[in-house]
Amino acid sequence: MSPKPASANITWTDLRVTDEMRAVRLGQRGVVVWLTGLSGSGKSTMAVGLDSRLHSHGIASYILDGDNLRHGLCRDLGFSDTDRRENIRRTGEVAKLMAQSGIVVICSLISPFRADRVSVHASCEKDAVLFSEIYVSAPLSTCELRDPKGLYKKARAGQIQGFTGIDSPYEAPEMPGLTLDTAETSVEACQERLFNHVLNLSRL
Ligand code: ADX
Repeated sequence: MSPKPASANITWTDLRVTDEMRAVRLGQRGVVVWLTGLSGSGKSTMAVGLDSRLHSHGIASYILDGDNLRHGLCRDLGFSDTDRRENIRRTGEVAKLMAQSGIVVICSLISPFRADRVSVHASCEKDAVLFSEIYVSAPLSTCELRDPKGLYKKARAGQIQGFTGIDSPYEAPEMPGLTLDTAETSVEACQERLFNHVLNLSRL
């Protein structure tokens, strides 16, 4: 993906209000919290729990959920490698902008390819936006047992092709900011760890 605009006749508009001014106004630092993991690993549960804890604590946040984004911003994308790559790129760009506005952006997507997550991280870093990769980890067998949407069953029956973990790869993070092992640790304990991690990052 080219880092340049498609047209040469595009210029950058500088803003007068800086990210720092926005952070001071809100009393918090914007962060991109990127939850990655298999379908059924617990990403949505962690995202929703974190969002509500932050909200109760007076910290502005929002969730960018893979399934939800695929109803709107990313509704033109499927599950080929190319489409997943574009899904992550698009979501990463939106998340960065939202974090620049000062809020904590909780991204919850399978995001199976390491290189795509690294690109989002690099893009955030380039603009001094905090990014933290959270590995929501559970063995495939556990995710398959949970099968909250019945999709593993369909994938095993050959009704879905290219399902992550079955016939499409998942590349686990190498150095995540935090790993939540949802098969071994209670939901409550995972959420507490995640909340404390993010609270520290969002502090001015
Ligand atoms: S990603 O791979 O591009 O990051 P994303 O998180 O947006 O995926 O969407 C994953 C969700 O789409 C899953 O939670 C599941 O509900 C649904 N889904 C439908 N088809 C597939 C598939 N082939 N592989 C993975 N998830 C799928």
